[in-house]
Amino acid sequence: MIDAHRRQLVDRIAAAIASKPTRDDVLRAAVELIAEFSDRFDWTGFYMLEGEILVVGPYVGPPTPHTRIELNRGICGAAATQQKTIIVDDVHTDPRFLACSITTRSEIVVPLMDGDRCIGEIDIDSNRPAAFTSEDREMLEAVAKVIVSRLHQV
Ligand code: SME
Repeated sequence: MIDAHRRQLVDRIAAAIASKPTRDDVLRAAVELIAEFSDRFDWTGFYMLEGEILVVGPYVGPPTPHTRIELNRGICGAAATQQKTIIVDDVHTDPRFLACSITTRSEIVVPLMDGDRCIGEIDIDSNRPAAFTSEDREMLEAVAKVIVSRLHQV
């Protein structure tokens, strides 16, 4: 059960993206609202699946060297392949981790599921260890749903 504050973010994103005409406009509007939600979110972005490659989409945060990620690499690749949200409390202990910034300590990756197909993902890095809660996960999974449903219409 997500709290009112988190529910409000989901609703605000649904309202903001309803009028956006293209995929990139939808993702840009959503990423800006997600990034603003918490100062625990130090890099917030999308990766979209193009064939077998995750290609970086709109993001808020420092430039990442990982603009294209193969499905067998990184926490991003693992979440897309397993089609499940992954939370890593300490990226330094996870051998899959591809560093976008040396300050990152924890990460959440939430797949954008279109039925049984992953079309992309929301990726958030935090400079704090264990920054992501199960409430964040629920909120971001709800955000993923509203985004996928809007992407059907653009
Ligand atoms: N940390 C990710 C790579 C993307 S950057 O964090 C933006 C991973 O391990 O897949």
